[in-house]
Amino acid sequence: MYLSTSRLTIIIFLLYYVCAGRVLWRIKERVRQARYQKAKQHLLGHALRGHLLKSHAKDGVIHQELDHFDSNRKDTFPQRFFVNEKYWEEPDGPVFLFIGGEAAISEVDVLAGHHVDMAEEHGALIVALEHRFYGESMNPGGLDTEDLADLSSQQALADLVTFHHYISERYHLSDKNTWISFGGSYGGSLSAWLRGKFPHLVYGAVASSAPVKAKLDFSTYNKVVGLSLMDEGVGGSAKCVGDVWEAFAAVEAALMGGNETQVGKDFSCCDTPSSLDDQIELLSSLADLIATTVELNDIEGGMSIEELCTLMTNQSEQYEEEAEAYDRLVNLMDIYRDVEDLPCLLSSHEDILDELRNTTESMDGSSERQWYYQMCTEFGFFQTCEDASCPFSRMLTLRSATELCTEVFDIPQDRLPGHVAFTNLYYGGKDPENDRVLYVNGEIDPWHELSVTSNGTWKNRGRAIFIKGASHCADMQKEDKSDSASLREAREGIESHVAMWLKTAAWERMMA
Ligand SMILES: *[C@@H]1O[C@H](CO)[C@@H](O)[C@H](O)[C@H]1NC(C)=O
Ligand SMILES: *[C@@H]1O[C@H](CO)[C@@H](O)[C@H](O)[C@H]1NC(C)=O
Ligand SMILES: *[C@@H]1O[C@H](CO)[C@@H](O)[C@H](O)[C@H]1NC(C)=O
Ligand SMILES: *[C@@H]1O[C@H](CO)[C@@H](O)[C@H](O)[C@H]1NC(C)=O
Repeated sequence: MYLSTSRLTIIIFLLYYVCAGRVLWRIKERVRQARYQKAKQHLLGHALRGHLLKSHAKDGVIHQELDHFDSNRKDTFPQRFFVNEKYWEEPDGPVFLFIGGEAAISEVDVLAGHHVDMAEEHGALIVALEHRFYGESMNPGGLDTEDLADLSSQQALADLVTFHHYISERYHLSDKNTWISFGGSYGGSLSAWLRGKFPHLVYGAVASSAPVKAKLDFSTYNKVVGLSLMDEGVGGSAKCVGDVWEAFAAVEAALMGGNETQVGKDFSCCDTPSSLDDQIELLSSLADLIATTVELNDIEGGMSIEELCTLMTNQSEQYEEEAEAYDRLVNLMDIYRDVEDLPCLLSSHEDILDELRNTTESMDGSSERQWYYQMCTEFGFFQTCEDASCPFSRMLTLRSATELCTEVFDIPQDRLPGHVAFTNLYYGGKDPENDRVLYVNGEIDPWHELSVTSNGTWKNRGRAIFIKGASHCADMQKEDKSDSASLREAREGIESHVAMWLKTAAWERMMA
């Protein structure tokens, strides 16, 4: 290793807590925490200037039926929500609903973010609902596979219907209160679907970075990762993607050449990756490390594409040509372990399966098991690398990725295509028949491949905003001095849609 981690001041990191799980999940969790911390610091700044903000967030619990579609079952689970009444212009002000996705929500979701800024402007009541079986909204029965049968996007939408009713009663709302929903990533898909399925409940919906099309073999994810690594506008280059490719080829060659002990040492694996499954696990961790950096480019607490490419392409005379790319990848993994404070990298497939099979709720709120369940039963989203456009290893196949569904949940692989097809039939995939749904996506975010990125017919014209150079859910954050012009423009676009919806709703009421 030729670049000491301590000298890497380019990466600003704070450790909030260490959560279990695969590389992909850990990084996402850390970024989520970092976003919350940043928002909290901002709120704290406000508080110090005399605004008592914390007191504006109220939390509560509603008891939801575990199965909305079986009238014989009456058992319930506690579902957490937050409310911020500070900006609400009683009694007729609108309601902004923030929809939680595959992670815990917090009071920050009703206190900070672009939707909160818009709520302030329009005098809206802000409410946020946590998704069933994530965060504190746990199934009292536990997380055994049979208990997970009640975990689905359809049940989650029904939870939102009940929550709408609950809030309406509690705040004495009427037809005069216009509801608008917001969400990002899977939460964004729920926002779009809520409007599509229940147009009488929400008048308009903003869906940020929402993968509304289910896809079993999400090979285009890594295609976009490759393109983004090449994109000079965000600090990438052809050399960068070339060096990444070279590094993976070198790791593969070393593994195939019987040097797995050395590879295990180089990447500080907890165990030597001797079986094929373990080797795939290691390659998949390395791919996740790079892909997640691209997806979350430059977000608080993470590395940027530019920094990654600087590391991966640094010309140094210290190493021979062919060894170089490999060593730079080793270096990258060292940095990751350092940041995550991991003594070694988990690469035993069996150990990872054990983590995913563990039905005890983890104290740190890791919800990898639940999300994999939804991938296996509804969405697919397996980020494979069998296409020529993928810059990683061809050993990351659909077959190896989907084996997990059988190994962890006993769901046969041949059932998966049917699950994914049903989801698209049920929601309409990338071409849903809806109106007043605004799909917002970032150019370098690979998830845009499964979202709506072009404008439709007269009915839903102007439904897509595509942000140049932006990463996953970038538009949802509060405006920041460092935001690009395209991101600012996108937020203005969202604001004008929301303002227009509220105006139209008021006008329709007047005419009624
Ligand atoms: C395996 O290691 C040996 C000894 O270090 C080396 O000569 C050989 O080139 C390596 N093979 C591969 C495929 O990396
Ligand atoms: C490249 O690596 C060398 C050490 O081998 C280091 O001194 C230099 O700062 C690195 N350059 C960049 C741009 O990171
Ligand atoms: C399951 O997870 C819990 C909480 O993270 C942990 O305490 C426990 O040791 C794990 N059980 C097994 C069998 O790994
Ligand atoms: C959709 O149309 C609106 C204007 O109606 C435009 O601002 C926006 O850029 C278009 N989106 C895409 C992805 O072309």
